[in-house]
Amino acid sequence: MDETCTDLLRFLQESPTPYHAVESALRRLTAVGFSRLDEATSWRGLAPGRYAVIRGGSLLAFVLPPGPARAFRIAGAHTDSPNLRLKSRPEYAKMGYHQIGVEVYGGVILNSWLDRDLGLAGRIVVRQNGELETRLLQVDRPIARIPQLAIHLDREVNDRGLVLHRQEHLPPVLGLTGEDAPSALRSLCARELGVTPDDLLSFDLMLYDLTPPVVGGLSGEFLFSARLDNLAMCHASLGALIAAAEQVREGVPIPVVALFDHEEVGSSSATGAGAPLLPMLLERLVLATGGDRDDYHASLARSLCVSADMAHAVHPNYPERHETRHRPALNAGPVVKLNAQQRYATCGRMASLFDELCRRRGIKAQYYVHRTDLPCGSTIGPITATLLGIPTVDVGSPMLSMHSIREMAGTADPRLMTSALTAFLEHTGGLLPTTVQCDDRSLLGSRRRCPSSSTSWVGRLPREAHRPTIL
Ligand code: CO
Repeated sequence: MDETCTDLLRFLQESPTPYHAVESALRRLTAVGFSRLDEATSWRGLAPGRYAVIRGGSLLAFVLPPGPARAFRIAGAHTDSPNLRLKSRPEYAKMGYHQIGVEVYGGVILNSWLDRDLGLAGRIVVRQNGELETRLLQVDRPIARIPQLAIHLDREVNDRGLVLHRQEHLPPVLGLTGEDAPSALRSLCARELGVTPDDLLSFDLMLYDLTPPVVGGLSGEFLFSARLDNLAMCHASLGALIAAAEQVREGVPIPVVALFDHEEVGSSSATGAGAPLLPMLLERLVLATGGDRDDYHASLARSLCVSADMAHAVHPNYPERHETRHRPALNAGPVVKLNAQQRYATCGRMASLFDELCRRRGIKAQYYVHRTDLPCGSTIGPITATLLGIPTVDVGSPMLSMHSIREMAGTADPRLMTSALTAFLEHTGGLLPTTVQCDDRSLLGSRRRCPSSSTSWVGRLPREAHRPTIL
């Protein structure tokens, strides 16, 4: 197993929630010289360097070279995964059992959560010395379980399929209790954090499977773990940024990694990809390095984005669920995802660019298009593309069991994807276009100077400005 895969296993294990994922990402970044930047302070005159910004379960990281910020290479992914989350007053007693109320977060494969040893993690707000503090919590013990109904009480389960009612059938059991309203979980959380139960105010807590990530298969070709969608792509993006950081110097596009929370529920939140978080970062970097708002818009016209989110490998038992000629294989490299409905933001030009970057690293890209008669999933790609207008390619490593509590991928793909994303974030001399917005310029070279929105319009409207921009 290569070092990328070994470190991915560690990252998955350390990150049971988006908040923990951001913490483990920050640990990796600070180990190589990144420092945390406060959104609430002025960034004017920001010194060149390596920085990370954290907002809840989202993290942005970038390497600022000397000189003005004038173009960006962005790799995006998401930190959240479908799971079960605690309701705000979760504890109750029923039939002598201590239970908790849970909500379904995102597109969970519900049956995969039955008969699992479940731990509890997230963040809790506590009252300490008159202040409200947010603390991370991880109870790494099997304190909860959702027991499957015995087959003797559900004789048709194998023929008719398992139908789970979200309200009635998902509350886990935590223990045995009398009929009094139990509070043992609240006490346990308070004890773990070293506060009294009364000082424990509100929380964002979720359940997770305790089974550790492992390498499996006859020859170690598989990776079995929770949250591969999409921590595997967060990990690849971080690895790529750390590798690309070495190449950053004055005048090159700024490499940015954007890891967002709340993708699995549509990205509309204060920290999701729908928030003005990434636009805020890019604009503030242009302003901080002496540019103005016109420079900001020009910088967007010079920028490119890769949205990395796991892709569907072909399943040997259900090959008909894939469009023929679009059946990604495990350990066969990054998958470019296309959808005419723009559920994926990829256009032909960005697909070509990504394909070519892969080829130059000795990697062959795979292609995925959803069956026309099935509704296609989506990613953060179309959302950031809508907010910023930056050409985007949606890619991902192939996997099986997506949104199960226990997913599956290949052990060679993390290294291949990290390499492809590094190629994208690194400045590659004249290989990458300053802009792909104008057809006058070839994608991989710059044979002609291109009059486009990437030059300043202040004081002079370009003569060619009436010409349509074709992407
Ligand atoms: Co995903």
